[in-house]
Amino acid sequence: MKAAFLLLALALAECADAQFAQGPSINPGGVVNAASYGASVAPGSIAAVFGDLLVNSPTVASRVPLPIELAQLSLLFGEEPAAPLFFASSAQTNIQVPWELDGHVSPALTGSFNGLAGTAQPVDLVAYAPGIFTTNNQGTGQGAILDPSYRLVDANHPAAPGITALLIYCTGLGTVTSPPATGSAAEAANETLVTPTVLVGGVPAPVLYSGLAPGFVGAYQVNVLTPAHAPAGIAVPVTISMGGSTSNIATIAVQAAAAGQDSDSRADALLAQMTQDEKIQLLHGIGGPVTQQVPLPRGGAGYVPGIQRLGIPSLYLADGSVGLGNGVGPATALPSSIASAASWDPNLAYRYGTVIGSEMRAYGMNVNLGGNVNLIGREPRDGRTFETKGEDPILAGRITAAHLRAIQDQHVIGGIKHFALNDQETWRTSTDARIDERAARETDLLAFEIGIKDSNVQSVMCSYNLVNGTYACENPHLLNEVLKRDWGFKGFVMSDWWATHSTATAAVAGLDQEQPNPAFFGSLKQAIASGQVPQSRLDDMAHRILRAMFEAGLFDHPESLGPIDSAVDQAIAQQAEEQGAVLLKNAGGQLPLNAGSIHSIAVIGSHADIGVLSGGGSAQVSPTGGAALSEQPPCPPCWGGIVWDPSSPLAAIRTHVPNAVVQFDSGTDPAKAAALAATAEVAIVFVSEWTSEGMDSPDLNFEGQDALVAAVAGANPHTVVVAENGGPQVMPWLAQVSAVLEAWFPGQRGGEAIANLLFGVVNPSGKLPITFPAGVADLPRPTIPAPPDGSSIFPVNYSEGLKTGYKWFDANQMTPLFPFGFGLSYTTFAINNAKLADRMISNRPGFDVTFDLRNTGSVAGAEVAQVYLGLPAAVGEPPRRLVGWQKVLLSPGALQHVTISVDEADSSHPLSYWDEGTSRWLTAPGTYTVYLGNSSANLSVAGAFQVSQ
Ligand code: BGC
Repeated sequence: MKAAFLLLALALAECADAQFAQGPSINPGGVVNAASYGASVAPGSIAAVFGDLLVNSPTVASRVPLPIELAQLSLLFGEEPAAPLFFASSAQTNIQVPWELDGHVSPALTGSFNGLAGTAQPVDLVAYAPGIFTTNNQGTGQGAILDPSYRLVDANHPAAPGITALLIYCTGLGTVTSPPATGSAAEAANETLVTPTVLVGGVPAPVLYSGLAPGFVGAYQVNVLTPAHAPAGIAVPVTISMGGSTSNIATIAVQAAAAGQDSDSRADALLAQMTQDEKIQLLHGIGGPVTQQVPLPRGGAGYVPGIQRLGIPSLYLADGSVGLGNGVGPATALPSSIASAASWDPNLAYRYGTVIGSEMRAYGMNVNLGGNVNLIGREPRDGRTFETKGEDPILAGRITAAHLRAIQDQHVIGGIKHFALNDQETWRTSTDARIDERAARETDLLAFEIGIKDSNVQSVMCSYNLVNGTYACENPHLLNEVLKRDWGFKGFVMSDWWATHSTATAAVAGLDQEQPNPAFFGSLKQAIASGQVPQSRLDDMAHRILRAMFEAGLFDHPESLGPIDSAVDQAIAQQAEEQGAVLLKNAGGQLPLNAGSIHSIAVIGSHADIGVLSGGGSAQVSPTGGAALSEQPPCPPCWGGIVWDPSSPLAAIRTHVPNAVVQFDSGTDPAKAAALAATAEVAIVFVSEWTSEGMDSPDLNFEGQDALVAAVAGANPHTVVVAENGGPQVMPWLAQVSAVLEAWFPGQRGGEAIANLLFGVVNPSGKLPITFPAGVADLPRPTIPAPPDGSSIFPVNYSEGLKTGYKWFDANQMTPLFPFGFGLSYTTFAINNAKLADRMISNRPGFDVTFDLRNTGSVAGAEVAQVYLGLPAAVGEPPRRLVGWQKVLLSPGALQHVTISVDEADSSHPLSYWDEGTSRWLTAPGTYTVYLGNSSANLSVAGAFQVSQ
């Protein structure tokens, strides 16, 4: 490229005979922008100076830093600074206008030849003036615009729309960079702070880079992607505009858009231009929050540097299960994602995902690590339950898909994790999940399958644990066969942090990217050279990552950093909590509280005077406005911290009853709290249980708070419990209290949402996405499995197989504390006229359930009507599986006719079972029974249908 650039400088020269007279003379108005030949010359840009310069023969500077004297010629602005010279001839010299002149308007330029000074000539400087270099010396026509192989983009090498990156050499963008010392080599990484607008054939082009041209002094480079819809032609105009000033017009050749320019062909076109090192560069992170090998440029959890030459953007990775995590910056703390699942509302879940995606984008983070869809009912004590979407594969898969679709719609690569069967935190790196293929496919894997297929998510994070004897991140069955072959996943697999255990084994098994550092994938070059990893596999790894970038729009929608829209996002956070909180008990219509008649309330416990609890670990959000309280974490997990989000339930309650006496007690002394409760008409006790990545709860109790609730309930017959926690809990005091509201970790508008729910401004409509067992003794594994020697790999036998969550309780005819799908409302609903129509859709079995849903109470409210299916007995499935639902909002007395359709071809395989013999989903002949109701434990038969042989 240097050669091309020097040729360009030479081409700008005009030869004339050297003259020896007084001193060099500069033509009036003879200093022009060297690129555009316009009079708009800016500090830092390259200028051509015309006149009688006395130089004997044309001379080109041969090195950087550029000399300030060339062929005995020097050019001085005032006494100084002297201009660095690229080229000198008798009639023209090319200079860089010194940075020191920034702010000067009309400095005088004097030429000096062999010590003999000429007459000064004023030079009009402008703040900025883009100029594109052209090949015809006049700033018009064919641009000096190169493709990534440094070829002129002309009729011989036309740009491919949507594929070819254009390297536009220009000048005059000076004021937007910090000036380098005059004459020093430009820094490649010195990006401009303002992004120019580049039009190709009048169509805005995504800007990939804008800054100093690597290796040149004073020249700028703007890299853009040829817009996908650029017009074809051999002289398509290109302009650069900045701050209202537009450059000269340079032309390039653009070929007609090829048919089917999908992400795969775009990725292939880029891949074809990459060196082996560049490919490998994409296949691992180069830092990590713990190793700190390389500081992460924007914080977060990981960083993969891009390839500037080809316009490939860097990847900035951050967690985001419940809001943007990793302390990237203040972000909206959403209610935990299990609350999002409890809304049973994919549209609201989409808005939840939009908050995460848009805030990631605002911070310049473009890979989300948030879609935790583990724990399909196997281990409710897992410390990360709050990040998940509960125990049912279909509900969890669909809610996750909605989150991920929304995130990718913000041009952030979505991530689903942890693949797979990462169902306990304790010993997560040495747990070997043992499970048969059918059970895996129909439970944990099914949630991933739905989440992936319904969202087009582009990255999958493999997990720490082993599955059937092989680490998940080098498990060819999981990665190559299930994910990539059977589900047709075309994105990339990244490892969980330090979950990679090998180079060749992992690469060949299907791992595409190691995080957070190159501990193993740093050796890929050797593994290729020695034949352990085929070149085709390496290409596939890089292709998948590039494809993901195209698919999520990282090329077509370049980053735009800016403030988050906090007001909008907090409103969504509040709505998600209001729709996701679950009313578990409401004896005697204790709730809603009547703001008009209540005189005194005792608010007790869980720092309800200042905030609400959040879950810990990598999902932790740093809430906007700062934490209400931060506490040291217990051990385990021994890291992170306990963060109380800044939303005071006490303050929010007071706004509903400004004239009532609302008093607070910390709850640390049950007797004192009971004494306060005894003085009030209603006592509201906040109980909380902190959970985090890196730990599991030994039991399901609210640690140290059962005595508090019992004491308060003993003192006040109108005791309402508000629970802040991440998953199922047991409630030994349940019979003694009037009402229980499950608020989950409520997010930073939780206080307001809880108060609205307590006072009936919002009618609760959340339904449990996970069974609350009566006690740990009822779980498939009453004790969390641990390695016998405390360290080595050990099996966890998932012998419950298909029977996870409510299916376990149904199959064993056990009554849980609260069943899956359960949640109360302040109104009542009736389901009538249920009818079943079985039908064939393109020769596939399916059915419609129709019914009338009526609000039979006196306030508006939403009900979640749920459809479950019993498969033919011979198939050996648990009694019922959820196959569909609809959430319907109804005014008092209103009736809606509802249809819920179920199709065999849905990604959830609602009618089918996994047949190990043929390794396929099959729909068995026999009788299928359809159930309709409002929880897994409150169902009526809607009908039955036959599938014939
Ligand atoms: C967690 C992942 C997380 C990663 C990066 C790991 O400890 O298991 O869920 O995305 O860290 O923060």
